[in-house]
Amino acid sequence: MSPLVPKGKRPWTTDPGHIHDVPEPPPMPDEQERVGLEIPPDEIEARQAAEEAREPHGEPAPIPEPSAVQVPRALAQEIRRAMKRYPQKRSAAMPALWAVQRRYGWCSPEGIEQAAAVMGVTPGYLEGVATFYDLFHMEPQGDHQVLVCTNISCLLRGAYRLLEAFSEAAGIDGQGNSEDGKLFVEGFECMGACDIAPMASIDERYYGPLDEDDAVAAVEQLRKNSKDVLPEKRLQDRGAAGGPRGSGDKRLARHPVNKGSRPTPKGES
Ligand code: FES
Repeated sequence: MSPLVPKGKRPWTTDPGHIHDVPEPPPMPDEQERVGLEIPPDEIEARQAAEEAREPHGEPAPIPEPSAVQVPRALAQEIRRAMKRYPQKRSAAMPALWAVQRRYGWCSPEGIEQAAAVMGVTPGYLEGVATFYDLFHMEPQGDHQVLVCTNISCLLRGAYRLLEAFSEAAGIDGQGNSEDGKLFVEGFECMGACDIAPMASIDERYYGPLDEDDAVAAVEQLRKNSKDVLPEKRLQDRGAAGGPRGSGDKRLARHPVNKGSRPTPKGES
């Protein structure tokens, strides 16, 4: 025991004799007393009537009958492939939703129902997963998605100016979809690429460090559906850290990133 605690006294233990000295707590006041309100009886009646008139939530939609839902063959195949990777089919919710989003541009109710039919789960289950994550869209998005990181490293290096430049170039007031439906611009949390701050994810590829001119150029290229958006700023094409130029390690030179050939992203053929 610490020398500061007198012998025989343990401040962290309760003296049982002491408990009996504690006075009984006063009885709990009823609801009205507690909030200090006098609710007039007619208001209580009105509240009860409103409660009774409220629409019941209804039963959640059941698991769709596979034979009753038309699912595009490629989508069904992708979802089934994902299901094989997990001991429980429900665990494939994320890749299944991702497949839906890639196909339709968002997690549309029809897409969710199709995925639910393939997986044998309720649409509500998939919706619950989709609404939890920011990267699943529950509303239609522009054809090209620009997410500008506004977290601390990027913010310190001008992320707000960058976000504004993207929105302005896309003709968006604030954030969201452009009127022509071509672009979706939004501020986002740290994407783990702080070393290229300020950065943005454009159509699921990282770019940085970006300035306002890059934003204007990128929007122009995206509007033309160019495959070659800001090639100089594309993280994917950059040599690995400590790459062949830096280390002289010949093994790094054989890596596809350093050879200049871009690995095919998952889900793209
Ligand atoms: S703060 Fe922007 S990527 Fe981390």
